[in-house]
Amino acid sequence: GKGEYDHFMLKEINEQPTSLAQAIEGRIDPANGRIALSDFEPGTFEGIDSVQFVACGTSYHAALYGSLTLNQAGVRSSALLANEYSVSAPPVDDETLVIAVTQSGETADTLNALRQANAEGAQTLTVTNVVGSTAAREADDALFIRAGPEIGVAATKTFSSQAVMLTLLGQRIASDQRGEPRADTESLLAELASMPGAIADVLDDSDAAAIARRYADSQAYFFIGRGLGFPVALEGALKFKEITYEHAEGFASGELKHGPLALVTPETPVFAIFTGEEDEKTLKNAEEAQTRGAPVIAVCPDDHPAVEAADDHLEIADTDQDLAGLLANVQLQLVSYYAADLLDRPIDKPRNLAKSVTVE
Ligand code: F6R
Repeated sequence: GKGEYDHFMLKEINEQPTSLAQAIEGRIDPANGRIALSDFEPGTFEGIDSVQFVACGTSYHAALYGSLTLNQAGVRSSALLANEYSVSAPPVDDETLVIAVTQSGETADTLNALRQANAEGAQTLTVTNVVGSTAAREADDALFIRAGPEIGVAATKTFSSQAVMLTLLGQRIASDQRGEPRADTESLLAELASMPGAIADVLDDSDAAAIARRYADSQAYFFIGRGLGFPVALEGALKFKEITYEHAEGFASGELKHGPLALVTPETPVFAIFTGEEDEKTLKNAEEAQTRGAPVIAVCPDDHPAVEAADDHLEIADTDQDLAGLLANVQLQLVSYYAADLLDRPIDKPRNLAKSVTVE
């Protein structure tokens, strides 16, 4: 049941310290900087030349997150919408690893892409929450995120577990390829081990409810981020539109000036996510919106220059740039939740949506 919570969504948001701890349990060894993905023998990914992620919706945002961490680790990779894969997949061969990211393991679009990749001779892997799901049965390998059942239609805890597992997996692929781990693996793993606590801190002391109240009745809600902040901006907007039914859009920070700025008014709050990746540029982009009257809500650490410049602030711990976006995402999940609650929306079962989408 929902226990002390009004909605499963809020319960599942609050479960993230636990679900993340479960995801990484036994899979990292911060003491000696090793990624003990016991699911895979060392060297499993030695022969992989490039990686394609296929996924839909929130899982696509996690896939994009994973793909960007892989690119940053020097491995060729791309994130593709599974529903577009049949018409526009890049070529694959037996050195291509196709990773289907799907919480349920039953999404028709994602299964179709996985089947196509299998038929074309790629190596395949699924990152899923459901043991025994179709994706787990049909992919060559499976990596389980161990998030526990997710009842709310809007995916929350599964997103953070997917993103973390993809970050870990990416480090393994990169180190298998190179024959040695990235120089800063040890510090990344130490930060990762502290993520459950950092998420608990966000949950204990978030101003998200006040921010949701302050900006209720806005015309539209924009989310911007750069690097790993970009998939988080997309996810922040998807969550917001799904459960509030308000207009929300996520943009790469630098894209704002290439068109979307025309939409910006004093009635369009802009949530700006700072991950430590060229933050000064993101701050400039946010200030361009502010100049047009839009309130800016900075999602960043307390001592960040954006705090001073912005109208409001949602705090996250100062962490590795591979992980900062995940803390920001928890703040944005809470903003969406409280905004939807103020509007009295049926949060766990938004109109027109289903938890598992088994049609094309
Ligand atoms: C959004 C949401 C959907 C799913 C998408 C893929 O909150 O839940 O966008 O992420 O339908 O579902 P899975 O991960 O089961 O393949």
